[in-house]
Amino acid sequence: IKKIGVLTSGGDAPGMNAAIRSVVRTCAFHNIECIGIYRGYQGMIEGDFKEMGPRSVNNIVNKGGTILKSARSKEFMTPEGRKKAFDNLQKAGIDSLVVIGGDGSFTGGLVFNKEYGFPVIGIPGTIDNDIFGTSHTLGYDTALNTVVEAIDKIRDTASSHNRLFFVEVMGRDAGHIALNAGIGAGAEEILIPEEDLGLDRLLESLQKSKASGKSSSIVVIAEGDKMGKNVFELKDYVEENLPEYDVRVSVLGHMQRGGAPSCFDRVLASRLGVKAVESLIAGKSNYMAGLIKDEVVLTPLEQAVKGHSEIDRELLRVSDIMST
Ligand code: F6P
Repeated sequence: IKKIGVLTSGGDAPGMNAAIRSVVRTCAFHNIECIGIYRGYQGMIEGDFKEMGPRSVNNIVNKGGTILKSARSKEFMTPEGRKKAFDNLQKAGIDSLVVIGGDGSFTGGLVFNKEYGFPVIGIPGTIDNDIFGTSHTLGYDTALNTVVEAIDKIRDTASSHNRLFFVEVMGRDAGHIALNAGIGAGAEEILIPEEDLGLDRLLESLQKSKASGKSSSIVVIAEGDKMGKNVFELKDYVEENLPEYDVRVSVLGHMQRGGAPSCFDRVLASRLGVKAVESLIAGKSNYMAGLIKDEVVLTPLEQAVKGHSEIDRELLRVSDIMST
């Protein structure tokens, strides 16, 4: 291994910059060249590369977003696009890749490896925490803190007006953010795609909470919840059936993906970056570096993509008990 290319791909996440910094500096430490590839796979296709040394990643450990920018490349899904990308890598002398992203990004890396035998190591970066082979993806911890802080503020106004708030959080297919931030913020109910609470039980729970003397409530909903209604339809449904409730909706949206990474995410990014580069040096390919029981370990990329990062069902029970 002489020259490693590093890219960020898919939805950005706090901690991606800290991971880029770690990859770049680990390369420098081991006297390996490092090339930053801009805009993920799209930049590979367009040859948008920049040499990176330890000084090109100064002062980014604390920055949200990704200095390499991110994209979802449709062209990379075609054999022609991947051929262009391969030619560009060869021209630049890049002989292996660190891909920082989610499962879509890893799938791209796997396909590329199958076609061209190109060594790839993945680092899980997505706020959704929906990747198998790591207890935490980069950005997840920061997003949880962002969501809890936002809901704390919503709680102030909910309580002043005796209102019920539906707060929609990110998580297209996964309820990790909703479940954990919901418990952290003291939500009355948490609706996630992995568990269909059902409309009747939601109404029942809200009725019970009113009867128990609560004057305001927060219900956290993952955007991928499968109750068959979006958050605004849910609001209408609850208002029709429980007219005693004054309901408002707050969709937190992309603010959840921004901001300075938490200390946890910075440390995780640093550890995973070191592991990714040193794994490539050791001749490994098609793995993802992740955290399991606070140890940095490798999981085959294929498993990381196909496996399910299960939610902790005990948390559902804890949430139920907490809303008593
Ligand atoms: O980063 C993951 C995620 O936040 C999902 O939860 C969400 O559905 C998606 O990204 C939205 O991303 P975009 O607006 O970039 O398509």
